[in-house]
Amino acid sequence: MGKNLQITNDIEKYISDNSLNLSPIQKEIISYNKSLGEIKKMQIAESQCHFLHLLIKSSNVKKILEIGTFTGLSTVSMLQALPDDGELIALDKNKKTSDVAFNYIKKANQENKIKLMVKPALESIKILKKEGEKFDLIFIDADKENYKNYYDHSIDLIKKNGLIIIDNVLWYGDVVKKNKNDKITTFIRDFNTYIKKDKKTEKVMMPIGDGLTICRKL
Ligand SMILES: C[S@@+](CC[C@H](N)C(=O)[O-])C[C@H]1O[C@@H](n2cnc3c(N)ncnc32)[C@H](O)[C@@H]1O
Repeated sequence: MGKNLQITNDIEKYISDNSLNLSPIQKEIISYNKSLGEIKKMQIAESQCHFLHLLIKSSNVKKILEIGTFTGLSTVSMLQALPDDGELIALDKNKKTSDVAFNYIKKANQENKIKLMVKPALESIKILKKEGEKFDLIFIDADKENYKNYYDHSIDLIKKNGLIIIDNVLWYGDVVKKNKNDKITTFIRDFNTYIKKDKKTEKVMMPIGDGLTICRKL
């Protein structure tokens, strides 16, 4: 039976050297995030940037909801893959990082496709549902305590056959460590069990970055 590799730093570099190239703006965001220190680990991994790009390009995705923008790496990665008539609605409660993200979005000439909603995501989602919005792809990467809420709302907001993609489902590998029972690890474990049982989607968990689950709405 095929087995996943243990990804060492050398293999990660090899993957990076032999995949798509990052755009100048993606590189600039990564370099800016580095200057922020520890918090840089909030951004998605380079392999996830490329994975989202190809998925959007190959699945005719036109309308995206992102929950968790930070300084814009995932946002710009997805915007650059969207066609000119595509739209991405990005939710984040942090005004300061959303402003940083918007500057990079403008620098990447992607401001015509974006709507940023800066408030607690559950409030924005309430508005989007009231307006009858529907999405081809929803990317969940905000506060882990609300993952279950975000997933449940996403089920209402996603089109049939649309994709709900959730980041950090392996939580630095802690989900399988018996001695790790802190609040967030427990939330993620419970969340993974919850969506595994949910019959409204079919899904695969993939060891890309910190772990992505990709769900297709049935
Ligand atoms: C892991 S970061 C997102 C990283 C981003 N996808 C990237 O690639 O750079 C999580 C973000 O969720 C935001 N966040 C946390 N709780 C939130 C909430 N209740 N509503 C909206 N945004 C929230 C934080 O402000 C932070 O920017």
